This record gives sequence, C-alpha cells and structure tokens, in this order.
Amino acid sequence: MERYAHITGWGMAVPERVMTNEEIAKLVDTSDGWIQERTGIRERRIAGPKETTASLAIEAAQAALEVADLSPELIDLIIVATSTPEHLFPATASLVQDALGADRAGAFDLLAACSGFIYGLSMASHSIQCGAVNNVLVIGSETLSRVVNWQDRGTCILFGDGAGAFVLQSSEMPGGVMSSLLRSDGSGGSSLIIPAGGSRLPATFETVRDNQHAIQMDGKEVYRFATRVMASAAREVVQCAGLTLNDINLVIPHQANRRIIESAARSLNMPEDKFMINLERYGNTSAASIPIAACEAVAQGRLRPNDNIVLVGFGGGLTWGAAMVKWDVPFRPEVSPWHRIRRQTVYQLAKVRSALKRGVRRVEGALYRTRPIPEEKQPPKK
Ligand code: UT7
Repeated sequence: MERYAHITGWGMAVPERVMTNEEIAKLVDTSDGWIQERTGIRERRIAGPKETTASLAIEAAQAALEVADLSPELIDLIIVATSTPEHLFPATASLVQDALGADRAGAFDLLAACSGFIYGLSMASHSIQCGAVNNVLVIGSETLSRVVNWQDRGTCILFGDGAGAFVLQSSEMPGGVMSSLLRSDGSGGSSLIIPAGGSRLPATFETVRDNQHAIQMDGKEVYRFATRVMASAAREVVQCAGLTLNDINLVIPHQANRRIIESAARSLNMPEDKFMINLERYGNTSAASIPIAACEAVAQGRLRPNDNIVLVGFGGGLTWGAAMVKWDVPFRPEVSPWHRIRRQTVYQLAKVRSALKRGVRRVEGALYRTRPIPEEKQPPKK
C-alpha cells in the first residue's frame, strides 16, 4: 500500500513592524531607488523585542494546524528550518513542541540556510512515505534582523523576519509531495557565512568588535550560483515526477532577489506570471520565504486545488533544493468551531503543564541534592 505526503495545512506569521527602504537609507549609503532596481525589495518586517524565531514559528504553526484542522497531540514530528535559532541548543523545534502541547512529537532544527524549508519538506515527506510517521509540521522561521550587520549595505538591505509552516499528513490517495531534490556544494561555504559564534570561532571581544557574528556575503558570487542552480533543480524535480514544465501551474521560488527569479523564468522558458513573487513586502526571509509565499499564493487565489507546483530554494552552504507538489488538498474553509476551541485549550494547558514540569524538576533536583549518601557509597575515610 503506497503512502503519500499531502500538504493539508499552511500558515504564516510576520512581525507588525515594517521597515522601508527609506529607513535603511538613513543607516547606510543606499537609496530606495537602488534597492528596488537591484533587488525588487520595497520593505521588510522586523521582529520587535518580544518576537523571536520560536514565537513566530509557534504563530505560523498554529495557523497551519487551524487550516488542517489537526490537534497538536496528533503531530508525530516537528522540523524547524532556521539559521537564527533561539539558542545553539535546545532546538527551537523543542520550544515549539512544548508551546503547542505536541506531546507525542519528536522535534529537531534543520540548518540548510535559505534552502532549509525544502530540506525539511523533503525529510518530512520521506518520513511519511516510509511509514515512520503520519503527521508532520515543517516550519521555516527566521529573525535575520538580529544577525544582520546594519552598517553593511551589501547585506542589510536584503533580509527580513518571518515564519511559515506546512502540515503534512499521510494518505493513500496519490498526490502531495511527488518528488524532491537536495544538493550542496560546501566549497562555496564562505560566500554566505556568519563566521563566529560556533565551535570554530567562539565569541570573544574581538569577534564581537569585528562584526563576525553577523551575516557576511559575496553577493555577486551567490547571485551567479543562484541563477545557475534554480532552473536546473526545478527542471529535475519536474522530470522526476514524470511531468513536463508545461504541466506546472505555479513556481514558488525562494524570495531573494527579483532579478534572480526573472533569470530562472527565462532559463526555464516560462512566463514570469507563473512565478509567485512577494519579496517586495518581506525581503529575503531565508527558510521562511517559500512557505510565506505559498500562504499568500493561496490567499490571492493563485494556488488552487489540483495545481502542480514547484518549490525551489538556494542559499548558504552552499545548498539548493526543489520539490514538486500536487496541491490537491480539498480546501476546508469551515473548520469546526469546537475543534478550534479545543486547540486553544490545548495551547493554554500546554503553558500550565510546561510550568508544572519545570516546577517538578526543581523539586526533584532539590530532593536529590539533600538526600544523604549511603555509607557504602561514601569515599573511604583516611
Ligand atoms: O538567500 C540567498 C541570499 N543571497 C542572495 O540571494 C544575494 C544574491 N546577490 C544579490 O542579490 C546581489 O548581488 C546584491 C543585491 C547583493 C547586489 O547587487 P549587484 O547588482 O550584484 O550589485 P554589486 O555588488 O555588483 O554592486 C554594484 C554597485 C557597486 O558600486 P560600483 O563598484 O559599481 O561603484 C556597489 O558598491 O552598487 C554598489 N552597491 C550599492 N549601492 C547602493 C552595493 N550595494 C549597494 C547598496 N546601495 N545597498
């Protein structure tokens, strides 16, 4: 019996704060005209003090669970693709799992920079297809504004914050993620890098002073790489799924630069209106850009049931990847109000339970520390 991984829910979350090109032009030597002409970006969202990669991920995940009408206790696996995790560990995915009250879920972070969401989607669909899990939440979430050097005009104009999530569910009905492709070329790692803060270059006064905890990029190099790989990856996944480019209704590319997307459209010989573009409002949100664009494509009626779509991403690593998806879920605008209330209750209870568990852990720790060591386990007296 063959199993398929269908996308049954989708959701997004972006901070309220909008930062325009004009504002950036007050920080570095640039202009709205230059940024729009060279990238297509007009504005981006910037996380407020209380917004983090996890909080955006949770909001997007809850919206996706709403569309799928799925209870968090039924999630088997949570994958958070991010380059801006809350901590090196614990995984942001574990924080999301705790906040959702997803009791039965495994959770891990995935780092493949801007290709992260495609990598997560591929892992999730294969886990479903092989029978290991039934319900998976794949999230791309970023707060890149926290790792941008706001004095570097080559990078700070590009990035923004946000999150997008998909719910994937198993079904015997053919459809869903039909093929995927993942690639990497680590020889280009230094073209897009945050040099410090890892084990190679731990934080020191000097690393902070020299801005080595911020994104550094060879823009031209990444541009050339992106235009090379996007079209070939899209072509390959479509072929793998047994289709041709003529069968594709919509391409949802990573939103890095309008010119890169236009160049891919030319290489694929496809009209530009078959490409979903929303980078003018969000900039490059890395692992979050593809699911955010997908959510907006649904909202705008550009992504409809039974469409064949291609998702294609590229970024640091260097990494790239693509997936061909049959978007064949029946749309369910009528989510049962009872289910919605139940989900809200689970989220509230998850907070209480998490606090209780932390309390119990503290008490256990205190009891363990005060318990006397038995005579036979004490070190020999001299
Ligand atoms: O998720 C993957 C992430 N990264 C990417 O996708 C980035 C890919 N690369 C790009 O999008 C483009 O390379 C950039 C947008 C970063 C730069 O655009 P470009 O057309 O490649 O510009 P450039 O680096 O060739 O610079 C052209 C000129 C230079 O001046 P000169 O040497 O010709 O006098 C730059 O100094 O534009 C200057 N410049 C700027 N001017 C105003 C570079 N950045 C800026 C700026 N504002 N922000």
